[in-house]
Amino acid sequence: MNLRGRHFLKLLDYSKEEINYLLELAADLKEKKKERIFTEYHKGKNIALIFEKTSTRTRCAFEVAAYDLGMNVTYLDPSCSQIGKKESTADTARVLSSMYDGIEYRGFEQDIVEELALYSGVPVWNGLTNEFHPTQMLADLLTIKEHFGELAGIKLTYMGDARYNMGNSLMVACARMGMHFTACTAAEYFPAPELVSECEEIAEASGGSITLTEDIAVGTAGAKVIYTDVWVSMGEPDEIWEKRIRDLKPYQVNANVMKQADQDAVFMHCLPAFHDIKTATGKEIYQKFGITEMEVTDEVFESARSVVFEEAENRMHTIKAIMAATL
Ligand code: CP
Ligand code: NVA
Repeated sequence: MNLRGRHFLKLLDYSKEEINYLLELAADLKEKKKERIFTEYHKGKNIALIFEKTSTRTRCAFEVAAYDLGMNVTYLDPSCSQIGKKESTADTARVLSSMYDGIEYRGFEQDIVEELALYSGVPVWNGLTNEFHPTQMLADLLTIKEHFGELAGIKLTYMGDARYNMGNSLMVACARMGMHFTACTAAEYFPAPELVSECEEIAEASGGSITLTEDIAVGTAGAKVIYTDVWVSMGEPDEIWEKRIRDLKPYQVNANVMKQADQDAVFMHCLPAFHDIKTATGKEIYQKFGITEMEVTDEVFESARSVVFEEAENRMHTIKAIMAATL
């Protein structure tokens, strides 16, 4: 398998075999890291990390993975570069690719990262856009595989805003890998019909399936993975909270939801999560709307079924695999 020079913009661009190859490579790199076997495969190379939105996991995963591969990193934060404000995406791509061996981009529309890749002479990796979060997908697939030993046939149920980056990406990932994806939420929050059709075609070939339902009993029955994400994503206006709480509270992942899923079901979340009021936003929401937990209850988040921190660790191993393979 040769992925050298390839961009990593969305999972739709990658075949099942290529995804499996990256997952195996990530598992191998994880093993090596635990055994303290050095993996400086790209010693002396340099990468740029562009973040137009904030991050803990993705940034740290890229930085640590880059150091482990022997590389140097430049971090461009949401306010410190000319990108988009004084310099176009196309010009930025040509400048950065003359200095760096790879570029990570986190920001707004998918079109921006696609344009960056179009004008870049080096691999571009999508660290999250409004539409997709592909590096998160590899971490999630690795976590599911570690937990259940396989991907094909697993039912994953996503509850919450399924038309944004996480819902879209999980639907694509499941379709590709022969998994059964269910969006269990209010109909307004189902993924866009065009993407659903595309994923249905992919799922037909892989042995997977796509289900959209408002019914929690239908959505959770037999699910091995219950997945959720924040109700309001980065870049969305604060005024939307009230409506989101009203629409999505019925789909909060709580003990009752977990009880209806498969008895071995795990809880997953890309993080950060609002499961208590120990954050500034959590406190603000509590003051305004009187709720102490949002998309997931603290009980489920802290339960033995929650694999969210394994998932977070796997961000680093999988991002390392992407960079190791594409550089
Ligand atoms: N899951 C995720 O992308 O986390 P960060 O926003 O902290 O990078
Ligand atoms: N949907 C979330 C994902 C964060 C990793 C957001 O875009 O803010």
